[in-house]
Amino acid sequence: MTDKNRIIIFDTTLRDGEQSPGASMTLNEKIRVAEMLETLGVDVIEAGFAIASNGDFNAISQVSKLLKKTSVCSLARASHKDIKRAWEAIQHAVKPRIHTFIATSPLHMEYKLNMPPETVLEKIADSVSYARNLCDDVEWSCEDGTRSKLEFLYRAIEIAIKSGASTINVPDTVGYTTPEEYKALLENIIQNVPNSDQAIFSSHCHNDLGLAVANSLAAVEGGARQVECTVNGIGERAGNAALEEIVMALRTRSDVMPYTTGVTSEYLTQASHLVTSVTGLAVQNNKAIVGKNAFAHESGIHQDGMLKHSETYEIMTPASVGLKKTNLVMGKHSGRHAFMEKLKELGFDLADNEFTAAFNSFKNLADVKKDIYDEDLISIVGGNMKDSDYFKVVGWDFICKKNIQNSATLNMIIDGEEKQVFSEGNGPVDAAFKALISLVEGAPILQLYQVHAVTEGTDAQAEVTVRLEENGEIVTGHAADVDTLAASAKAYANALNKLLMQREKKFL
Ligand code: KIV
Ligand code: ZN
Repeated sequence: MTDKNRIIIFDTTLRDGEQSPGASMTLNEKIRVAEMLETLGVDVIEAGFAIASNGDFNAISQVSKLLKKTSVCSLARASHKDIKRAWEAIQHAVKPRIHTFIATSPLHMEYKLNMPPETVLEKIADSVSYARNLCDDVEWSCEDGTRSKLEFLYRAIEIAIKSGASTINVPDTVGYTTPEEYKALLENIIQNVPNSDQAIFSSHCHNDLGLAVANSLAAVEGGARQVECTVNGIGERAGNAALEEIVMALRTRSDVMPYTTGVTSEYLTQASHLVTSVTGLAVQNNKAIVGKNAFAHESGIHQDGMLKHSETYEIMTPASVGLKKTNLVMGKHSGRHAFMEKLKELGFDLADNEFTAAFNSFKNLADVKKDIYDEDLISIVGGNMKDSDYFKVVGWDFICKKNIQNSATLNMIIDGEEKQVFSEGNGPVDAAFKALISLVEGAPILQLYQVHAVTEGTDAQAEVTVRLEENGEIVTGHAADVDTLAASAKAYANALNKLLMQREKKFL
């Protein structure tokens, strides 16, 4: 195996992933994910879009200062203002990278950019050379690359490389391409762009047709040596190529795909749990690699085969993705030590004060719920990470009786100050939501209110999802509590916190 078969894993969970509806993360959450990604061993972390908001800028800047070995990157459009802001955010990183992009497809150039192709080429030269004057490592992306005209793409890429880009990313922005077509595209670009030997080529695949991982692997076959992906495959619309699937496909099928990555796959389950808990976006049970059933064998024939020889039905071991054999169920007699071990197993390495807060929440839950499962713990840690929330529901009193006006009284901490809000409503949930909405200006529309049990049993925590829409932007709040009404109020407050963050973003 030679170095030319080493695949650079470029993780964009904190940028493209965060653009999934409802996935916005707080600063604290972004820092945790970045630290996890460094432990995992990804090569580049796209930490955000610096000019999008002060929140994005701060997160990129903090992540840049914190990470010890991983390259940190910020996205920027093809303008000096964007690129300068990106540089300001990443300048303290051990390995800073500016990632600048412009669309190159006829559709995007005409309708979105409203620019003739020649102007786009000038913009590429100008933006990339401006970025290269600030930063040694510049990546350039031709947005909607897979629907661009080949001859134009060759010219654009040649200019980007000549202007100083050392990574060329060819995004399948709308998830339209197929493996064969994408492989051929990469091959053609590498063959026909005269200075292609001076750059590393990269894939960036969206999953609209469910082909993101297959397309990314095909790009590698076509000569790409960087793959852009996200943990759990989160991202715009149907998401991006899932990091864990790329890594395990390369590892498990190294016989037909002789490539390596720097990822320690044993951390994949932990990384997945962390991203689930901070975004509230659960992966489906049958999700490859990290789904709850990915290593479960239900049918008698399969179980029999597994008992005789695990390879009968298992192409990779649970341990290779960090899945521990023990499924220790926690309860009210579990002590601090067992709790700490369990959290480590799930991928959470908490600071002392965070650990104490999580342990207290665990004990409170154990008082009212006999068995505490992994899913409960993931939601506890996720809930405790929302410490920087502007609105926090800390107490509640609901009146819910037949033939009596229902109401909700909520004790809140708002920006650090205690406050009580009250409203009547058609049922306690309606009352709670009315009390909370009175705290913000405007009238976001409630698009979804959903309750599901985190685990089995009537004492299960209720996990509530609340989706709000404002001017076409969607935010999703999540919360869990054994009290369904309390979970509902907390989830709505969580959505309002995300709405405030969303309002701050100028665009995405
Ligand atoms: O999907 C896309 O085209 C992108 C680019 C900005 C890289 O996310
Ligand atoms: Zn994308």
